[in-house]
Parts: sequence; C-alpha cells; structure tokens
Amino acid sequence: MHSLRQQALQIVLQASPDLKAASARSLDEQAAVDADAVIATPAGIPGRPARPELVGHTDLKPRSMRTVEGRAALIHALAHIELNAIDLALDIVWRFAGMPEAFYRQWIVVAKEEALHFELLRDHLRTLGFAYGGFPAHNALWDMAEKTQHDLLARLAIVPRTLEARGLDASPPIKAKLVGAGDLRAGAILDLILRDEIGHVAVGNFWYRQQCAQRGLDPIATYAELAERYRAPRLRGPFNIEARRAAGFSDEELALLA
Ligand SMILES: [Fe+2]
Ligand SMILES: [Fe+2]
Repeated sequence: MHSLRQQALQIVLQASPDLKAASARSLDEQAAVDADAVIATPAGIPGRPARPELVGHTDLKPRSMRTVEGRAALIHALAHIELNAIDLALDIVWRFAGMPEAFYRQWIVVAKEEALHFELLRDHLRTLGFAYGGFPAHNALWDMAEKTQHDLLARLAIVPRTLEARGLDASPPIKAKLVGAGDLRAGAILDLILRDEIGHVAVGNFWYRQQCAQRGLDPIATYAELAERYRAPRLRGPFNIEARRAAGFSDEELALLA
C-alpha cells in the first residue's frame, strides 16, 4: 500500500485530466501519510494531456458572452484552473516533508474538492457542446508552483494566499457575467466553488502563519518580501472582502488591500 504522499505524486504524474480528477476523488484518505519521507522529484511532472495547447497569458483574448462559444471559452478557462488546482494541492503533499499529519490530510481534502470542481465544469462544458482541451490555455499557475518548489513558506504565500485568494475576488464578477448571459447552471457551480475556495485559502492561511511562527517571521512583512521576490501578480480590486475575511485574512491584511 502506497503512502498518501506517494499516491498524491502518482496523481500529479497522471496525464489524463479525467483520470487525474477521478483518482484524486477516490484517493484513500485512510492511507498512512509517511510525513518524513523525502521523495525525489521524478521527470514528467505534472502529467498533462496533449491538449489544451498552452500559450502565453497575453495570447488569450477575452470572448463575448453573447455566443455559446464565448461562454464555453470562459468555462474552459475555469476548468483549466481547477485541473491545475488538483496538481497544486497534491504537489504540496508529496513535495514538502516533515509537516504535521493534519497538514497533509487537509491538502488531500482540498485536492478532492478541486477534482469535483474540474468535473462539474468539464461536464457543464459538454452540455454546451465543447470538451476540455478544445480551447488554448495558459500555464501561469504551474509556473508559480515551480518557482516556489524549494520553499514551503513561499508556496503558501504565493499559491493559496495570492492566486487562490484572487479567485475569491474574481468569482462574483464572473458569476454575474455568466448568469447575465442566462447560464444559471454555471452560476450554481460558481457558488459551490466559491464556498470551497474560502476553505482552501483558510487552509493556506493557517499553515502560512504556522510556518511564520516556527521561523520567527512577521506574517505581513514576510508576505510583502515573498510577493516581491517571486513577482506575485499585483493585487488589484475590487476585492471580495467578505470572502477574504472568512478565509482568515486579518483586519490588518484586509486594510492593506485598500
Ligand atoms: Fe477549485
Ligand atoms: Fe482551491
């Protein structure tokens, strides 16, 4: 029986999106964590399908919400983010040794939720007549995972606390666009995702603070340093303050956004 961390790595290596999501959802949560194992980085990480074609961030043009294809392109972009999010949650599990057992188990729950998000969006895309892989996509999320692969504190600062937290801000306007175009199902899926994502950012905040405390660092000054060093995307409003507060950002951190 493979440890939970070994299983997480195998799913990151899985190239098929459908199999990746299905395996994440059926991960055996009872398996031993094996927190202290140092696992060598294999080649071919993460596993990715031949499609979607990965292009530069700026090569993706916004599409009109008036056509089904335009709405499908937006749903596709969201599905792509969720597929990356499965890998990001599992990557933190296998890569970083020596954390308390709860750390690994919480990120496994996150990965399972990301897999559900991917499946809901992929299935909705099918009802619009499109498949995952049918539009180009970008690799910005995994790029950040690579840049922060040697430092758990940086990973927590940049991935859950910056990129996923930006998802909290982005959710209401995206939902308004899709519902405004008559796609009520997409609106319902986005509601479910937002509820879960608040939890993911909360997990990120908890372990970020734990790591700061352990290293004797000030969470706010350290975040500013890490954001600069790793060139995190600049935070721009409008912010979803209510969701950010629910996700555990402090009053001081929320005030700094303004
Ligand atoms: Fe998600
Ligand atoms: Fe997430």
